[in-house]
This record gives sequence, C-alpha cells and structure tokens, in this order.
Amino acid sequence: MNVDKVILKEPQAGLGSLVHRLISRCPPLDANSMYCNLLQTHHFSKTSVAALYQSQLVGFVSGYVIPERPDTLFIWQVAVDDQARGKGLARKMIAEILQRPGCHHVNYLETSITASNVGSWSLFQSLANKLEAELDKSVLFDRDRHLDDLHDTEYLVRIGPFDQFKVASLINQ
Ligand SMILES: CC(C)(COP(=O)(O)OP(=O)(O)OC[C@H]1O[C@@H](n2cnc3c(N)ncnc32)[C@H](O)[C@@H]1OP(=O)(O)O)[C@@H](O)C(=O)NCCC(=O)NCCS
Repeated sequence: MNVDKVILKEPQAGLGSLVHRLISRCPPLDANSMYCNLLQTHHFSKTSVAALYQSQLVGFVSGYVIPERPDTLFIWQVAVDDQARGKGLARKMIAEILQRPGCHHVNYLETSITASNVGSWSLFQSLANKLEAELDKSVLFDRDRHLDDLHDTEYLVRIGPFDQFKVASLINQ
C-alpha cells in the first residue's frame, strides 16, 4: 500500500458504520456502539480524521479538545488497518488534526493507554520525541476504583508543551 496515496479528511456521519467496522478489526481497542462512532464522525469531526485509500477506510483517529482546557487535544482512539501499519499513518493523522485552524491554540496532547499496549506507547513516545516535548504518565482510570475490575487500568499520557512549528515538522517526517 502506497501511503502517499492515502487521503486524510475530516470525517462525515456517512463514515460512522465504516469506523465501527475498522475499530472492530483493531484489537485491543474497545468497540463502541455504532451510535458513538456516528457522534464521533458528526460532532467531533473537526478534531477527528479519516484516512482513505482507494475509497476504503484504512485509518481513523477520534479526539476532542477538553472543554475546560482549550490548550489540550485528547486523543480518544487511534486505529490503523493491518495493511496500512508501520508507514507513519497514525503519526500523520494526529499531525493533521493538530495543524487544523481550530487546534492552533493546542499545545498539549493527552490520551490514555493500558500498560500492555506496546504499539500505543511506542506511538505516543515517538510523537513526544518528535515534538521535543515531555511525556508524563499517571493513572487516569484505575482497574479497581473506576473500572469494576473489568478492564485494565488506563494511564493518562500527557505530552507538551509544544508549538505549531514542531507540529508542522511532524507532517514532513
Ligand atoms: C498502534 C497503531 C495505531 C500504530 O499505527 P501505525 O500507523 O502503524 O503507526 P506509525 O507507523 O505512525 O508509527 C509511529 C511510531 O510508533 C511506532 N510504533 C507503532 N506501532 C508500533 C508497534 N506495534 N511496536 C513498536 N513500535 C510501534 C513506530 O515505530 C513509529 O515510531 P518512529 O517514527 O519513531 O519510528 C496501530 O498499530 C493500531 O491501530 N493498533 C491497534 C489499535 C491500537 O492499539 N490503537 C492505539 C490505541 S489508541
């Protein structure tokens, strides 16, 4: 797959069911309801991105600017189809959101990751390195305290501060 031919765009509600199927193909991501994916592609489209290759959805990032902290973009889920992995697509999708006009005031990135998700830790550590920013880790949702012992602890990852100059350089790496 030639990643240079992948088109990145703001999602529209019409993609909701394709997002639902992509997330289902990308364990260990939690599959949300299709309704949730529709809301992501509708109300959160400005801070989400769809990656299309030959009209197929091969990647999706959902995110939102934290309402009380407009300087922080929270990345909800990152999904890249098997065939498209290892080509920098996850990094490019996050950079695409960060460089949009609505994110020009954003200089922190947050997400949450379970301890065993090696790919996700690698992705966000790599982003922190490329943005030349600190990566802080703390507990966000604890297995016993918040998750009824049904789901592994989610660690909050906070990266920043960074500036738009560094975001622009992310696209070209
Ligand atoms: C994790 C995932 C999103 C990575 O997507 P990707 O497009 O392959 O990632 P990229 O090619 O942009 O990689 C970015 C960086 O992360 C590293 N990385 C990504 N996946 C990795 C893995 N499984 N193991 C080790 N490093 C990994 C790359 O080496 C790269 O680092 P570098 O630029 O410093 O060399 C993808 O494997 C996926 O969808 N996994 C299943 C769902 C999931 O776990 N999502 C993340 C939770 S939010």
